[in-house]
Amino acid sequence: MPSPVPPLTPTIEIPRTYRVKSFGCQMNVYDGERMAELLAEQGIAAAPEGEEADLVVLNTCHIRERAAEKVFSDIGRLKRQDGSTPLIAVAGCVAQAEGDEIMKRSPAVKMVVGPQAYHRLPEMIRVAAEGKRITDTDMPAETKFDALPPRGQGGRRSGPTAFLTVQEGCDKFCTYCVVPYTRGAEVSRPHADLIDEAKRLVDAGAREITLLGQNVNAWYGKDAKGRKVGLAGLIRELAEIPDLARIRYTTSHPNDMTEALIVAHGEVAKLMPFLHLPVQAGNDRVLKAMNRSHTAESYLKILDRVRAVRPDIALSGDFIVGFPGETDAEFEDTLRLVDAVGYAQCFSFKYSPRAGTPAATMDDQVAPAVMDERLQRLQAAVNRDQYAFNKATVGRTCEVLVERKGKLPGQWLGKSPWLQSVHFVGEAAVGDVVTVELTEAGANSLSARLLSTVPA
Ligand code: SAH
Ligand code: SF4
Ligand code: F3S
Repeated sequence: MPSPVPPLTPTIEIPRTYRVKSFGCQMNVYDGERMAELLAEQGIAAAPEGEEADLVVLNTCHIRERAAEKVFSDIGRLKRQDGSTPLIAVAGCVAQAEGDEIMKRSPAVKMVVGPQAYHRLPEMIRVAAEGKRITDTDMPAETKFDALPPRGQGGRRSGPTAFLTVQEGCDKFCTYCVVPYTRGAEVSRPHADLIDEAKRLVDAGAREITLLGQNVNAWYGKDAKGRKVGLAGLIRELAEIPDLARIRYTTSHPNDMTEALIVAHGEVAKLMPFLHLPVQAGNDRVLKAMNRSHTAESYLKILDRVRAVRPDIALSGDFIVGFPGETDAEFEDTLRLVDAVGYAQCFSFKYSPRAGTPAATMDDQVAPAVMDERLQRLQAAVNRDQYAFNKATVGRTCEVLVERKGKLPGQWLGKSPWLQSVHFVGEAAVGDVVTVELTEAGANSLSARLLSTVPA
């Protein structure tokens, strides 16, 4: 029997299955979900767990060094045993910042698509199917949101917790950060679109919505009556959606923490008592060199005001250790600030020089060993505070939104209002808001006793 002759120009078929892997912040995860919905609308199905997909979208993050390196090792790992590769698209912030480099370094990558252009993926797939490689890192005037299929389309269900991007981009230009370059300028999505998307998410099963933005509290819009509203107004309106139980928002910037938003923390019951407010450092010279445009004291004053209206609020922050020129004494100021606040949780990072940002070429880059030591000390302090916060909540009665089954029989996992992971045993279902008593604290989670179930 004659063996089949391979075609002269190898063409790739339109993929039948996809997998989207997201590596970045919550907004990156949100983009991943929207891309998945878009691909599903094209008739491409999610690849079943454990099975290879025809199309793999690597939804990347550029914020620190290792994030980008991970993309290249991931591309390598996608090679199959027979030497073939799936159709690979690199999306996200590395795509935006290093699209050309990726195309040069990785022949297996057929598509590079930036965070503001992914609504064009279907067209790109058709081009790639003809065997061509294609890059789209435009930041088009038309917004991707208008071109994406509505949430919950085709009966798609949402989990009990959902993300909703309300604002994108950043105009703050902290000297260490790539986000203003990878995401572009600050843009707020229209009020009506957000109310509509939130309602659709709730109809699809969401009980909690986390409003997302690089500077989420810089969001502004016009309500149905044409009045200008800020994030606090949007939160108040979302709180009117009957089946929505909880509202959260992240990430906020200290300079956009308005009085209205602070007041909302004291008045809107559905707004959870949790505030993630990055400060980055506790020393004013370092903060100025970072172009943070707030001081340690002005930051602490904001927290005082929030605590005045919502005494039980759980506080969270981001920190960078080893910013260029940071001395030992300046780092001690960061530890002092941590001690003063008593965070419920924190994210801390070693400074990572990012090409194209002002800090990358500053003098006095801090030695890696010094950064390691500072990070260890900072993390020991925040772990101590997190444990202390968890212990202080033992004995409280609170609501938990059930997110999934636990490992043990009859066990459920969910989140407290203060974003703690809570596990309990009893009669419940995913999506229930149940009342529990917190009984025992660990460093990262708490056990609880089920008191009553409020049907979902
Ligand atoms: N818009 C948010 C979050 C931006 S990125 C904000 O302003 O807070 C999330 C966190 O990554 C930042 O808060 C910062 O702590 C960290 N980060 C950003 N750039 C970094 C860099 N070059 N090196 C180390 N950490 C960085
Ligand atoms: Fe980056 Fe600063 Fe903008 Fe946050 S506020 S995204 S850290 S530039
Ligand atoms: Fe990363 Fe881009 Fe988010 S760089 S942190 S995925 S905005």
